[in-house]
Amino acid sequence: MSAPELADRHLLALEGLSRSAIESVFELAERYRPYVVNDGDQPCTALSRRGLALLFFEDSTRTRVSFTRAAQLMGADIVTWTAKGSSASKGESTIDTARNIEAMGYEAFVVRHHRGGGTKKVAEHVKVPVINAGDGRHEHPTQGLLDAMTMVRHFGGSIEGRHIGIVGDIANSRVARSNIHVLQTLGAKVTVVGPPTLCPESLASMGASVTWDLDPLLPHLDVLMALRIQFERIGAQAFPSAREYRAGYGVTAARVERLPEHAVILHPGPINRGLELDDDVADCDRALILAQVTNGVAIRMAVLHRAFGLAD
Ligand code: CP
Repeated sequence: MSAPELADRHLLALEGLSRSAIESVFELAERYRPYVVNDGDQPCTALSRRGLALLFFEDSTRTRVSFTRAAQLMGADIVTWTAKGSSASKGESTIDTARNIEAMGYEAFVVRHHRGGGTKKVAEHVKVPVINAGDGRHEHPTQGLLDAMTMVRHFGGSIEGRHIGIVGDIANSRVARSNIHVLQTLGAKVTVVGPPTLCPESLASMGASVTWDLDPLLPHLDVLMALRIQFERIGAQAFPSAREYRAGYGVTAARVERLPEHAVILHPGPINRGLELDDDVADCDRALILAQVTNGVAIRMAVLHRAFGLAD
């Protein structure tokens, strides 16, 4: 993937996206954020009468509702197609589905696909801009952007030199991949940590440090991001038991105590509570999980702005 993707109006990946392109999305998201937190005090008509189709070939709560909210706040005319209940059950292909919905006059697509590369394939077969809402194990670019924006806002405008630990099922995570790209582009150091089955040494090829031991890392982190164990993608048993996983890698109150006082906790959701994060950690003041969700709407408004080619 190369940097011109935002210029092309597709957003398929964060790999290769320049720092200036990322920062310009953040600036735009900051301009849109008041619409999200003021709940429509100032009506926005930026996408009035413009047609957006959300195509979800895989389940979602946050991403689907967040894009819906973003598009509604901008006044767009949206339709949501989900694989369940559709003609996909009769054998209709991804490409035929996309091309039929494009033929109804929708001007841009948001696409989540269960296969890595599934969203790119749609982009290759339609004329409209395509935003990747997560494709298999590949990337989840708007999640990476909203996570990075949340950190940048928390640390007063920059994460240059910050150390971010990402713990959990890295191997199966498109969120990890997008975060590794965007955080390093913004000047942060990234360490990924998890059991060897879920955190292979090969991840070092992306520039991240790799470790299988969480506890010694904790005092050195500015951010600890926990990721969901993707049970639906884990073929063989990746760790002996949930209890053993929590003992080694669960973000417990005791582990939060070992973080520096200024460090914060993120999780992209959905959370397996009691496994990746304990309840008292997920709901504590140092967890920015709901700020991630709020910032996500602003990021998606900015990404829609770019996709529809609106003037800055
Ligand atoms: N973070 C995320 O992508 O959540 P959903 O799968 O609910 O969209």
